[in-house]
Amino acid sequence: MAGLIAIALWSCGPKRVGPAGPDGKSLTWPQMNVEQRKAHMKSEVLPRATKIFQEWRPERYAKTDCTLCHGTGDYTGNYNMPTAHLPRLSGELLLGPERAKHPDTTKIKLNKLVPEMASALGVKTFSLITRRGFGCYSCHLGPDGPMFGNN
Ligand code: HEC
Ligand code: HEC
Repeated sequence: MAGLIAIALWSCGPKRVGPAGPDGKSLTWPQMNVEQRKAHMKSEVLPRATKIFQEWRPERYAKTDCTLCHGTGDYTGNYNMPTAHLPRLSGELLLGPERAKHPDTTKIKLNKLVPEMASALGVKTFSLITRRGFGCYSCHLGPDGPMFGNN
């Protein structure tokens, strides 16, 4: 019973998706240092995101790199997310304006990109109830800056 509870609790936290840490266990995304994060972005995040963007618009996304999401931050070493490099979103919880103006983008992001990125990072997807987790605002800013617990 105690074991089951431990597993249930553990499965709520970030998953061990990274290289081994000092205790021999794989690190979670929040535990990784900057170098490990860069390596993880290169091996997991960039390839998985590229696949999604290329299936959607093969010509436009024929060549992708870190600047796709980080913009010129990739040259200056500023990898902070969310970033002003990407268009600001409305800030509306249910994405009404995004669904109206950019239905395709919004659908692909919701159905594919968000779950794929959350899985690559081993973190939970955005919850409408807690208003926390990996979602649109993990990459995009709202009208007045970062939203939903991102900073
Ligand atoms: C598809 C979008 C996307 C691409 C492409 C991408 N990143 Fe990221 N990156 C993110 C997101 C989102 C985060 C923030 C994750 C989080 O903590 O919620 C992030 C975070 C990071 C961080 C950690 C920043 C910090 O403050 O700790 C580093 C370093 C980083 N990326 C480097 C890279 C490098 C190097 C590449 C290219 C190999 C790359 N990224 C490609 C989306 C992307
Ligand atoms: C992992 C990072 C990431 C996440 C998460 C993300 N986006 Fe994006 N988004 C991007 C990138 C990168 C672009 C710009 C692509 C380009 O420059 O062509 C973009 C562009 C857009 C655009 C501009 C219009 C267009 O068609 O290109 C809209 C609108 C948008 N995203 C909405 C959303 C919504 C809504 C969500 C959540 C359901 C979301 N995004 C989640 C990375 C992200």
